[in-house]
Amino acid sequence: MNKNTASRMAELTINGKTHLMPILEGTEGCKAIDISNLLRDTGCITLDSGFKNTGSCASSITYLDGDKGIFRYRGYDIEDLAENCVFIEVAYLLLHGKLPNAEELDNFKMLLEGFALVHEDMIHFFDHFPSNASPMSILSVMVNTLCNFYIEMGDDPLTNIDITAARLISKIRTIAAFSYKKSLGQPLVYPRQDLCYCGNFLNMMFHKPVRNYEVRPELVSTLNKLLILHADHEQNCSTSTVRLVGSAGVNLYASISAAISALWGPLHGGANEAVIDMLEGIYADDSNFEKYIRKAKDRSDPFKLSGFGHRVYKTFDPRGKIIKKACDDILLSLNVSDPLLDIARELEEIVLKDDYFIERHLYPNVDFYSGIIYRAIGIPANMFTVMFAMGRLPGWISQWKEMREDPGTKIGRPRQLYIGEPRREFVPLAERP
Ligand code: ACO
Repeated sequence: MNKNTASRMAELTINGKTHLMPILEGTEGCKAIDISNLLRDTGCITLDSGFKNTGSCASSITYLDGDKGIFRYRGYDIEDLAENCVFIEVAYLLLHGKLPNAEELDNFKMLLEGFALVHEDMIHFFDHFPSNASPMSILSVMVNTLCNFYIEMGDDPLTNIDITAARLISKIRTIAAFSYKKSLGQPLVYPRQDLCYCGNFLNMMFHKPVRNYEVRPELVSTLNKLLILHADHEQNCSTSTVRLVGSAGVNLYASISAAISALWGPLHGGANEAVIDMLEGIYADDSNFEKYIRKAKDRSDPFKLSGFGHRVYKTFDPRGKIIKKACDDILLSLNVSDPLLDIARELEEIVLKDDYFIERHLYPNVDFYSGIIYRAIGIPANMFTVMFAMGRLPGWISQWKEMREDPGTKIGRPRQLYIGEPRREFVPLAERP
């Protein structure tokens, strides 16, 4: 962003001296005070634990308004994209900044199909994880090691970024499905050219040599929707990880691998698995909601209601609304009743009426209902965060690409307020008390 375009200045007065800082204006009324010269001019840094109020970049990919519950990719409302697109169409949008026409989408599909296999030598790696290994750890390792097998990024990572992006988007689903099959001790199911992106994934997960898997269109459409909703979410923890790690100049695969690790945490993408654990706990506890609500409100107890609250949204997460409806639709269409859905609905109702949650603007987030859909599809809980990673991948890649294309990008290197010991005299070992 060009600092010369700043039309207004912010004033900061320290010890009677006023310092001027440009106010930068983005679109949709977004504003930022450029403090990059603050240390040089004042001797002070800014301190903002958890980056609650700190922008790390200017981006044209995703727009969020947490107060109004607005969420857009490249200017398009999430509601329209989730209703009308398939996942790879949205992946193209995020990567290229425009919706593909029919020919561009066909070409993108063909590119993805061509990259669906993983190198056979990599398949042996799966044999050496313990059978109870976390699929998130396997995913992170496998994605990291892709750089050893597909070295086209070379010295100029942007030249082949479209190829690398397609490789990653295609292979992540093969790696995810293979890790699941390995955990069951079942033979791997290879990708098929005649199936779409989501259909292929479902087939690789659930087909068995002794039993054909029927790829049901309603499951494919629900999965497309879920992946679209997860495809980007501006500068969250894992995306900031992609940018921070990538800013050191490391390759895209290593940057994405780091993001997968960040996503794994229960306060971030791991919340979808934690939600199911929590709902199962409430169910096993004879629907003792009161106990869980009490624990969540108790400041001395680290327990939080998983699937509630969000750093940015102070109203309903727009993704949560779409997912809740998709959840109702798919359970109805499959004629499945899930007691955990009843628990989830009742918990949501209690929370939305409770002053503690109202005062803190805590609403269901994207993770609250997604796990129930995954269960209905047949995906086990330990794969939920892997599903999130598959969905988020186009966003991570687009953010990495945007960062690398920006000539103003510098290595990410936050400052700190040192609160340790002042200088002390060194004491030789023999003289220490
Ligand atoms: N249950 C109970 N209390 C909560 C919850 C919750 N789920 N979330 C926030 N609070 C409380 C906090 O204890 C705090 O209370 P206080 O003001 O009395 O101290 C207040 O609400 C503000 O919360 P913070 O932790 O300051 O909010 P922050 O923006 O740092 O955290 C987060 C956001 C991590 C999502 C938090 O709401 C949380 O832990 N939620 C549960 C985990 C979860 O669902 N994560 C998924 C988020 S979506 C995603 O990443 C994909």
